[in-house]
Amino acid sequence: MLEKFETITSTNVKDKTIVLRVDINSSVQAGKLLISPKIIAHTKTIKHLSDKGAKLVVLSHQGRKGKKDFIDLQEHLKALKKLLKIKINFSKWNQNYSQEIKKLKKGEILLLDNTRFLDSETEKLSPEEHSENKTIKSIASNADFFVLDALSVAHRSHATVVGFIPLLPSFVGPVLENELKALENLEKVKDKTALILGGGKPKDSMHIMQKMLNQNKVSKVLLGGIIGELALIARGVSLGEKEVYLKEKNHTKNIPELKKILKKFEKKIFIPADVAISSIGERKEIPLSELPVKEMIFDVGEKTIKEYSLLLKNCELIIFNGPFGRFENYQFSWGTKEMLFNIKNSEAFSFVGGGDTITASIRLGFKREEFSHISLAGKALLRYLAGESLPALEALEKH
Ligand code: 3PG
Repeated sequence: MLEKFETITSTNVKDKTIVLRVDINSSVQAGKLLISPKIIAHTKTIKHLSDKGAKLVVLSHQGRKGKKDFIDLQEHLKALKKLLKIKINFSKWNQNYSQEIKKLKKGEILLLDNTRFLDSETEKLSPEEHSENKTIKSIASNADFFVLDALSVAHRSHATVVGFIPLLPSFVGPVLENELKALENLEKVKDKTALILGGGKPKDSMHIMQKMLNQNKVSKVLLGGIIGELALIARGVSLGEKEVYLKEKNHTKNIPELKKILKKFEKKIFIPADVAISSIGERKEIPLSELPVKEMIFDVGEKTIKEYSLLLKNCELIIFNGPFGRFENYQFSWGTKEMLFNIKNSEAFSFVGGGDTITASIRLGFKREEFSHISLAGKALLRYLAGESLPALEALEKH
């Protein structure tokens, strides 16, 4: 698959102005950006290209409009400066960024602000249509190459992800290159595939799970996190306070669709058998029969962990996307930790993907080399595995 693309690592970049699309979109807690594995990985790309004498225009999105993590990239700038220990210029979209690009000298770096501050960024358009956009055209007119370095955005046909591809010679960056190499391995595995899904984006999870099951690309799906809780509601379990929260966050609107999926694939989808709640700040496990409760649910319980651990035995491929509980708090990290522990001890080819899952694995003491591949991509990876074409890869292949 890698042979379909040109890689920037094998190209002479000295004195070339490169538009580098990375994905340093990371969690924000109490307004503070958490330095994530994505930031660390792309920092290496930036350093590599800057050391080779390229002039870099770095682009990334952060968060989604209307959400608390929709912030500017000032904190990212600080993080990059801290990690790289070199000067990095920054420009907001309402400043004269074209002038800043023109001023770049060999090895210098310019970070532009959150790409999703541009209304055109998320418009549903083709690469060719996005390439007509004023901002894209103006940046491209001052650049020599475009490099896409993130599989994690390859499923988005967004302006700064695909719009430069028709305009500039375009390459795959080292982070993306590494991901594509791992995907080649996955294509060899056909049976005994387990998909473990948790995390906070249940709509995406539902879509992927349905696609993969429909195409027989997965033999069992183990649910935790918000999608696991929604599955409990779909099966008629009333959660109590957590259900109120899920409703407030608009997640419960997915339940009618989820019910249909659960019915169709009854024997292949596994849902929590118990939960862990926060009782006066302490972890307390309760069976489903004790629900609904006033306390919040923050993890699956031990019965679920045991059932899921058995289901993971003898798998040939295990894909884990999305933590099961509030892993930042040790008491509610057990579900996630045990899933990772099972994967680590399994003979299966293992793919641990998605920003939060990686952050959880690091915080819980796991090492990169304990898994076959750590993917910085979450949903893009799953979409790929579900057989969907990724617009950015398609465009890179075509041009
Ligand atoms: C991610 O975190 O999965 C990527 O940065 C893509 O973000 P998005 O789902 O908001 O497009």
